[in-house]
Amino acid sequence: MAGMSSDALPLPPLYLRLADRLAAAIRSGALARGDRLPSVRQCARDETVSIATVLQAYRHLEDARLIEARPKSGYFVATALPPALQEPDTSAPPADSLQVDVASLTERVMQMATDPDVLSFGAACPAAEFFDEERLRRALAQATRRHRALLCQYPIVNGSEATRRAIARRALPWGCALDPNNIVLTNGATDAIGLCLQAVTRPGDIVALESPTSFGFLQVLEALHLRALEIPTHPRHGLSIDALALALQTQPVRALLSVPTLSNPLGATMPLAERRRLAQLLAEHQVPMVEDAIYNDWAERDEHRRAVRSFDQEGLVMLCGSFSKTVAPGLRVGWVDAGRFTPALRRLKTALFGGHTTVAELAMADLLQQPGFEPQLRRMRQDIARRVDDARSLIAESFPRGTRVTDPPGGIMLWLELPSAVDSLALFKACLDERICIAPGTMFSATDRYRHCIRLSVGGRWDEAQRQALRRIGAIAEAMLARGTLRLAA
Ligand SMILES: Cc1ncc(COP(=O)(O)O)c(C=O)c1O
Repeated sequence: MAGMSSDALPLPPLYLRLADRLAAAIRSGALARGDRLPSVRQCARDETVSIATVLQAYRHLEDARLIEARPKSGYFVATALPPALQEPDTSAPPADSLQVDVASLTERVMQMATDPDVLSFGAACPAAEFFDEERLRRALAQATRRHRALLCQYPIVNGSEATRRAIARRALPWGCALDPNNIVLTNGATDAIGLCLQAVTRPGDIVALESPTSFGFLQVLEALHLRALEIPTHPRHGLSIDALALALQTQPVRALLSVPTLSNPLGATMPLAERRRLAQLLAEHQVPMVEDAIYNDWAERDEHRRAVRSFDQEGLVMLCGSFSKTVAPGLRVGWVDAGRFTPALRRLKTALFGGHTTVAELAMADLLQQPGFEPQLRRMRQDIARRVDDARSLIAESFPRGTRVTDPPGGIMLWLELPSAVDSLALFKACLDERICIAPGTMFSATDRYRHCIRLSVGGRWDEAQRQALRRIGAIAEAMLARGTLRLAA
């Protein structure tokens, strides 16, 4: 199989252990804001590690916004540490599966989220400024020039070989040695997920997934007439494997659909040991999993990129991804390696979609292999992290007391649990009156849960107007609470 599993879980690399020790010293206050860290050379001597290891550890802490490099002066503990806010509780969805009906609210939010006259926190998409538009245009123009003839031919169903090879190379650090011949290119991750589910389920079947979950997943389930079984999910560690084990014992679950790295909307990231346990559990019950790795490249820690698929010995894990969040959503290049279900998935894809635009796929292959891509990803992660910190500080200042917020290790989404008297649908409507768009919590579940929750995406434009709009959302929620309290008192 394509996984590269080994029996013992590897110790985190040396640089990460050093970074974790320093992070703990910063969080405990042993190293205070603005303190100077030992020079790289000194730290290497003290810790008896190489200079490269210290540099990697410092870079990791820099990405996590805990330290900052000052030109010609060295490394210092960041002066503005991310605010400490309480995180939401583990979710507690009902134990039964449900038919899904989320389409109308979702359509409304998506429509408003892309309206240029609206200050939007609705869409989980980075703004155009995050993408290197010039590099994109050049790659597309070059692919069209070089492969002009391809525009007049039907494309092959699996997609361009160069792109499949580039994807297989990118999956190596995730612990996966994928065979490019088994990779199938798709129209974004959404199509890959839809095809995987169709390959292993029939209408009426039960699919287990995180709770809260991506409304895109709920839409796919609704379109395929599948039932959603929502599994309790921890805001930092993701899907509860214990709860999933119980569900597999008691219900005829046909598939699991999960985002182990930076789930949507929680931004939860499953620990490595749990990923291994999950693969074992799936093997025990012979249940296929659709692993959506769309956010793996946004993870701040390398170990968070290790796929569940890398522990899979049975070909049960269908690994999907796309470049909508890191290269360009408009190119619509996604992919899947469906393990033992590859023949079924290929048949479905041939019948339903055929191939895609080969020049777009070749432009993607070129972009993925350019030396500038990794530095661009790193810059993107840093810019996003700064915004998330800024947004969390604004939330701490201006949202009602008792608001809980996630602190995702990467990604552009924040999940807020407001005091239970706040109705997120009423908040959504009140915000829209002021041309501000948020995503109400009920969009992220087939149940009627999360009425007091909202998802805020900070990937759109980020300027004073947007920051002001964020404060305003808090003020509107506060006013709603005050009105509710007055009504109760009357
Ligand atoms: C978890 C997850 N999977 C898939 C998608 C959609 O990906 P694509 O644009 O590649 O279809 C999204 C988009 O927000 C997402 O959050």
